[in-house]
Amino acid sequence: MNKNIFLVGTHWGDEGKGKIVDVLTENASACVRFQGGHNAGHTLLIGGKKIILHLIPSGILRDHVKSIIGNGVVVSLEALQDELNDLKSNNIAIQDKLFISKFCHVILPSHQAIDIAREKYLGKASIGTTGRGIGPAYEDKVARRGLRLIDFFNHEHLISRITSLIDYHNFLLSNYYKSTPVSLNETIDKLVPIFKSIKKYVIDVTPLMMEISTNSTIIFEGAQGTMLDIDHGTYPYVTSSNTIFPGMTTGTGIGSDKINYSLGITKSYTTRVGNGPFPTELKDDIGDNLAKWGGEIGATTGRARRCGWLDIKILNKAIELNNLNGIALTKLDVLDNLEKIKIGKDYNSFNDVADIEYLEMDGWQTLTKGIKKLKDLPKNARHYIETIENLSNTSVDLISTGASREDIIFIKNIFE
Ligand code: IMP
Repeated sequence: MNKNIFLVGTHWGDEGKGKIVDVLTENASACVRFQGGHNAGHTLLIGGKKIILHLIPSGILRDHVKSIIGNGVVVSLEALQDELNDLKSNNIAIQDKLFISKFCHVILPSHQAIDIAREKYLGKASIGTTGRGIGPAYEDKVARRGLRLIDFFNHEHLISRITSLIDYHNFLLSNYYKSTPVSLNETIDKLVPIFKSIKKYVIDVTPLMMEISTNSTIIFEGAQGTMLDIDHGTYPYVTSSNTIFPGMTTGTGIGSDKINYSLGITKSYTTRVGNGPFPTELKDDIGDNLAKWGGEIGATTGRARRCGWLDIKILNKAIELNNLNGIALTKLDVLDNLEKIKIGKDYNSFNDVADIEYLEMDGWQTLTKGIKKLKDLPKNARHYIETIENLSNTSVDLISTGASREDIIFIKNIFE
């Protein structure tokens, strides 16, 4: 089988991508991350055990899958080490399964210090970042002063680049943000040994992806979500990478012609962490209940997620931007208790929360968790799904009705 699948969150992230990737990788040879860093967080429930991945693609949990980190990802060596230790302590094999692009930019402790100092400095105008140093690392990449993994292979060269970079960071930290500078020597002493321990995974991954995408199947796993895209999202309340389809091509070196199917991951309601516009947000008991029933606590930061009704206007934008072929509708079971369910259909602008056109329908008030066939879903749940299909003109090809691998309804075999 040769079919490559691109997968992206259609709203502001946390749509439950990790679980869908995990399910799909059963039929794949490789799983690829192409942007973002350890700001992402995938919570996976495998055999009743919770595993949280931030940087390493979810495919690592399967022995037959190669997990590849593309050049578009920004890598924190400390976060990578923590995650590898966590996987090893859960007896998950890494050797011959993990490949990291030598062209990845490295997130330094000073990037994180700048991220945190800047958010504090911005006060009420802060973005609500994950505080992982993602933005500052991408800034340095674009400014052509960043540090890449490849720089760690030559110690003298590394020392020269890292010295001038941290010097610049410390100037910013001390003089602009009035914050504490970081120690160059401590950074080097910390990162060089970590690099030595992970060096064996660092290669040029593009030829490997080219080969697998030609002969077998790759799942390209987007992190964050469409509306957090630096160009097309709710700027400035976005992340610092291209989360949408074109981010996959630049973040891997693999052409769009290799993608056979583009899958949007849509949660049955909408959530967002961090600041910024959210037209269908519910600031009432229903919103609180969705957060409670859906366990809407950020996997990376532990922050409570804001909850609201499904926003179709954004879904339609995501379909266009990512050229989506189908939708995986997740967390349907979270709506099980509701008497009435709304869908946000239209509004003038992101900030115009007063004027939203909603479509209201009856809930199903029956448990859907674990149901395996579309026809076995309650009638009103099927109506909800059909309404989404009609309003988006896109088919719902997968439905997730719970956190486990098993809680899934396959409507279409997207590998065919
Ligand atoms: P940053 O990516 O840490 O710079 O954060 C920028 C914005 O993206 C903030 O609103 C974050 O909450 C949001 N964000 C970053 N990563 C994720 C994610 O994986 N899921 C949801 N939101 C995210």
